[in-house]
Formats: sequence, C-alpha cells, structure tokens
Amino acid sequence: MEVADGIQECIETLRDLKSCNAEHSYLKGLFKKIDKVERRAIISEVGTAVFVVSASFILKIGIGTVALTGSILLTCGEIDILMFFMYLIIVSRLYDPLQSALQNLAAVISLRTNVERMDEILFHPLQEGSQQLTNNGYDISFENVHFSYGNGEEVLSGVSFTAKQGEVTALVGPSGGGKTTISRLAARFWDPDAGRITIGGMDVVKTDPEKLLSLYSIVFQDVTLFDNTIMENIRIGRRNASDEEVIEAGKMAQCLPFVEKLADGWYTMIGENGCELSGGERQRISIARAFLKNSPVILLDEATASLDAENETAIQRALSSLIKDKTVLIIAHRMRTVENADKIVVLSGGHVAEEGRPDELMERRGIFSHMVALQKESSEWRI
Ligand SMILES: Nc1ncnc2c1ncn2[C@@H]1O[C@H](COP(=O)(O)OP(=O)(O)OP(=O)(O)O)[C@@H](O)[C@H]1O
Ligand SMILES: [Mg+2]
Repeated sequence: MEVADGIQECIETLRDLKSCNAEHSYLKGLFKKIDKVERRAIISEVGTAVFVVSASFILKIGIGTVALTGSILLTCGEIDILMFFMYLIIVSRLYDPLQSALQNLAAVISLRTNVERMDEILFHPLQEGSQQLTNNGYDISFENVHFSYGNGEEVLSGVSFTAKQGEVTALVGPSGGGKTTISRLAARFWDPDAGRITIGGMDVVKTDPEKLLSLYSIVFQDVTLFDNTIMENIRIGRRNASDEEVIEAGKMAQCLPFVEKLADGWYTMIGENGCELSGGERQRISIARAFLKNSPVILLDEATASLDAENETAIQRALSSLIKDKTVLIIAHRMRTVENADKIVVLSGGHVAEEGRPDELMERRGIFSHMVALQKESSEWRI
C-alpha cells in the first residue's frame, strides 16, 4: 500500500520533483520503502511456508502412525486385516482434502490484510440525511461553526455569518485561514464538529448530500477534468444538456477563444485531467460547468485566479447576468475581484474578524483596508 502510494505520488509530482532537483533523493526514499516491503513479504511467506510444511508433516506422520499401530494391533490379533485396510483407506482418503485445506488456509492468511483494507472502505460511515429539501429560499447561514480536519488543530473556531440570496458574499483572508474549508462545509463535503450550517433554514447536516449538491454550482480552486472531450467535460454540469446548451455555457465562460484554435473544436480530447490545457483554460471549462448547471447557490473558490484581467472581466460580466436572485459565495485573493461584492467577510485566525460592505470596511481601516492597500502597493512593484 505504502509503495503503491509512493509510486503514484512520484508519477504525479514528477514535474515538481524535477524542477527542484529532488528526484534522486525522492527515489532513494521510495527504494527504501520497496526494500522494506520486500523484506516483510519474504518474512510472511516464510512464516506461512513453515506453517504449511509442518502441518503436512504432522499429517504424514499421522498416516505412518495409523499404519504402525494397525500392524501392531494386527499382529496382536486385536483387529483383522479387513479392519486394518479400512483404517488405511480412510486415512489416505482424509489426507488429500486436508492437504488442500491447508494450502487454502495459507492463501486465506495472506488475503487477510486485503480484506481488512476492503472492510475499512465498506464500513466507513456514510453521510446520510433527508431526501426532502425543506429550505425556504437560499440564504446560507453559519452559526458558531467549529471544525477541524481530525488532526486536532481547529481550522474554524466559532464562525458565524450569513450569505444572503440575491447578494454576492466575498470571503477574504490570509492563506490557510479556512476559506476553502467554509465552502466545503457549506456543500457538506465535511460535517462541522459543532455549530449549525443552514441553507434557507434547512440544516445542511440533516440533508442527503446528493440532494443538497443539486442546489450548488461549485468552481473549485483545484479543477478536476476528465480524459474526454471539452464538450463532455462541460456537460458534467448538467447531464441532459444539449450540445447547443453546452456551447452556450462554454461561450459565456470565455472558452471560445481557445476552443476555436483546437483541431476538433468542442470535440477535442483534452488528455488526463486536462493536461493539454493551460491553467486558465481548465478554469474556464470548470466555470462553464457552473454556468450550465445554473443552480440557485454558486460557490466560487479562486475561480478566476489563473485568468488574465481581460478574461476575468468578461467572465464577471457573464456571471453578473447569471447570479441574479442567487446566493453567491466567492473566495478570492485579488481585491479587484471582490470590490463589487455586496458583502465582505474577512476570515482570520479561524473566526470572522470583520464583515460588511466593501466601502464600510474601507472606512473602518481594519484588516480589509490593509489588504487592499498591500495589494495596491504590490501591483505597483516592478521587477
Ligand atoms: N484535507 C485537509 N486535511 C487536513 N488539513 C487540511 C485539509 N485541507 C485544509 N487543511 C488545513 O486547514 C487550514 C485551512 O485550509 P483552507 O484550504 O480552508 O484555507 P484557505 O483559506 O482556503 O487558504 P488559501 O487562501 O491558501 O486557499 C490549513 O491550515 C490547511 O492546512
Ligand atoms: Mg483555499
């Protein structure tokens, strides 16, 4: 398992390893792991072999013992020859099935670890909940939410805010502050340790995750694409969408400029996880999915981070026509992206440090206005 993980990690991170000249030291570690697993496999094989061989040895001794005891009893006249042969036949008949049972036992022993791993997956607790959506509107509300990823360190410690329907709420704050975590909790990828998250008054934790996700269009920070055509990658947003609808969504997300240049247009295969596309192009496909799904709640996590200013402005214009009457939660590092939001929620140290309209927060001269000032300064830098 460790080795399989290591090899996969090595393949996935090869580009970064090479760029840091860390390939050799990484491979050394991987070889050490392979050696360890080899040694462990040999020890366990030898252990099983010793067990099987000694058990079949005892079995064989059993036949000899029967023959010996039988002949002694025969010579003493305790049993007759017929009885003697009957015992010998029974023992030799028993020998074969017992021998194969032993061999199977060895196989069962070596399968035990595999079964344990499969059980771990099978018995993993499932998120369950009501199939009925009882929400009234689509306001998303966090009430004193606490959360940690299970390593003891609390990422969110008492987060409370409301993202209203018909408004754009922007989450800002330092990297690692828990912004992505908040969007994951809102869509119930994880459940909070304490506190309540509601959408239109409906407790998210009491709702079936799949039903709940039907309300969300999400653009993640790390886009996942499939080794398929651009058309099918966008259609994931809504399975039954027609080709025309997919293309319409793609155009709104500014995909047309790069799709036009591809040999097969919308029907071009994009390679594993879209490896033949640039970061910004991948992001636009992901935004097109959200446009196509057209759900009442939209979560955008750094959705426009790898876009140039021109594309970002065009997408924001398309978004503003889409987000009418919807609940929009947007996470962005660029202050330019969030300056038109209706409400800013500043997250710092696991709780909400400031919230309000952008102009209010600028006047307050707190964290937000400091962030804006810093970004202005850095945008004027020249290298
Ligand atoms: N799957 C995970 N397992 C364990 N810890 C995690 C996981 N995801 C995030 N964290 C931790 O939770 C904290 C908050 O992460 P989060 O991704 O929510 O931050 P963020 O505000 O979105 O940061 P960024 O602006 O860099 O995207 C970080 O300290 C991070 O190390
Ligand atoms: Mg994040």
